[in-house]
Amino acid sequence: MAKSLESSPAQADGVPRARAVAVVGAGAAGLVAARELLREGHAVTVFERSDRVGGTWAYDPRPDGPDPLGSGGAVHGGSSMYASLRTNLPRELMGFSGHESLAGRVFAGDPREFPGHREVLAFLLAFAEESGVAGHIRLRAEVVRVAPPLGRRGEEGERWSVSWRGESGEVAVDAFDAVVVCNGHCTVPLVPKLRGIDKWRGKQIHSHNYRIPEPFRDQIVVVVGLGASGVDIAREISQVAKEVHIASRNNEHRLGKIDLYPNVWMHAEVECIEDDGQLRLAEGTTVTADTILYCTGYHYHFPFLDLDELCVDEDNSVGPLYKHVFPPKYAPNLSFVGLPSKTIIFQSFELESKWVAHALSGRAALPSEEGMLAAVQEHYRQMEESGKPRRHTHVLMPEWVEHMNWLAAQVGEPRMEAQRQEMYERAVECIWSLDGGYRDRSQP
Ligand SMILES: Cc1cc2nc3c(=O)[nH]c(=O)nc-3n(C[C@H](O)[C@H](O)[C@H](O)COP(=O)(O)OP(=O)(O)OC[C@H]3O[C@@H](n4cnc5c(N)ncnc54)[C@H](O)[C@@H]3O)c2cc1C
Ligand SMILES: *[C@@H]1O[C@H](CO)[C@@H](O)[C@H](O)[C@H]1NC(C)=O
Repeated sequence: MAKSLESSPAQADGVPRARAVAVVGAGAAGLVAARELLREGHAVTVFERSDRVGGTWAYDPRPDGPDPLGSGGAVHGGSSMYASLRTNLPRELMGFSGHESLAGRVFAGDPREFPGHREVLAFLLAFAEESGVAGHIRLRAEVVRVAPPLGRRGEEGERWSVSWRGESGEVAVDAFDAVVVCNGHCTVPLVPKLRGIDKWRGKQIHSHNYRIPEPFRDQIVVVVGLGASGVDIAREISQVAKEVHIASRNNEHRLGKIDLYPNVWMHAEVECIEDDGQLRLAEGTTVTADTILYCTGYHYHFPFLDLDELCVDEDNSVGPLYKHVFPPKYAPNLSFVGLPSKTIIFQSFELESKWVAHALSGRAALPSEEGMLAAVQEHYRQMEESGKPRRHTHVLMPEWVEHMNWLAAQVGEPRMEAQRQEMYERAVECIWSLDGGYRDRSQP
């Protein structure tokens, strides 16, 4: 239910704090951001470039255009979802508060603890309707440019301009007090350049364009990368492929054939492609393969933003961003919801969204620009001290609970329940175990 503006403490000083806010993207992050903004009394417009809401969860059986690994193949920015995907977190962890979450209701007839993607999409559609967000979404509206106010900061009448391309192809410009960026970060493939790749004669594909295992039948496949997708896809193609070889760094403790499978091997990272086209792995083995399947993740990408004060560096670190959400120079009027990974993602979206909505109304106070910049520098310093690589800037391990509790405190929410924390940690252990069967065993 929307809180009445009159009762909001934000109004106490008489400053109008109900803002006109543009949200870029109608995936899970954009939907919950819009809900929280509306609840706080803001006026909201959600721009969605595709013809449907749900982002990642809107499965499309067509690969996303030519494979990005082909020569200059265009990436359309479609979903990276594959046919068989089931959530890797239990349904209780994939809802939004205040609503019948996935936990309490079955939406697309898939009552399993770890439902398929259709169930999650159906939940998101129901959430958009029931929260009233649906009426604020413009479909087929691609944001092509977001520009800050031209004048001096705080100047009367100066607003952010959002240029967007509608169905007709024409670009229109609308003005807003604030912009929340929720464009997702699982669409632009990150592909490591393997040494000697020019000698590779086989196929290459990124998991972004993986849909079904059939094309890999009887092949020898090298899966590069051992993230959640790498594990899941390797497991799936092992059912039809001749051999699956997983190459990953930080894997030295379990090299060799995997007991659970007749045809899956673990390797250290790929060292190079040899002159004869064989792959040499860092532990010394070589493999002759048909296909390299990159499960190496994605780039953060904000093609509509061109700000000197904010960049994505070559280590895929977006900064400077205070707590992964606010660029100090533009806070609270520009914000990002959904950057962090390795946490309870939907809950993280919701907490970040509440924080943004409260910061815009004035209910949550942010430090000064200098204070936020100092906090970002301190975060980088801590990363260095603990040996966390820069490419893991937005990976919330191991501090995920601390971070979520910090966000909760900003918006007056209780700390995370121990039970949720345990549920998440148990699920994460299962993900890395390579034993997909965990999804069908009841949780202890
Ligand atoms: C294969 C796969 C499996 C996953 N499994 C899980 C899981 O089991 N559990 C879990 O919690 N998470 C999982 N995730 C993470 C998933 O990304 C998040 O759950 C969540 O869907 C991300 O939401 P988002 O809104 O940030 O981004 P997205 O879902 O990508 O949505 C972004 C939206 O923004 C739109 N957009 C982009 N650019 C523009 C623009 N310029 N103008 C207008 N609109 C734009 C896009 O069209 C899209 O609709 C998985 C991800 C992948 C790829
Ligand atoms: C944010 O926008 C408001 C007006 O909507 C303005 O008063 C304020 O100065 C802006 N803040 C920054 C940092 O630009």
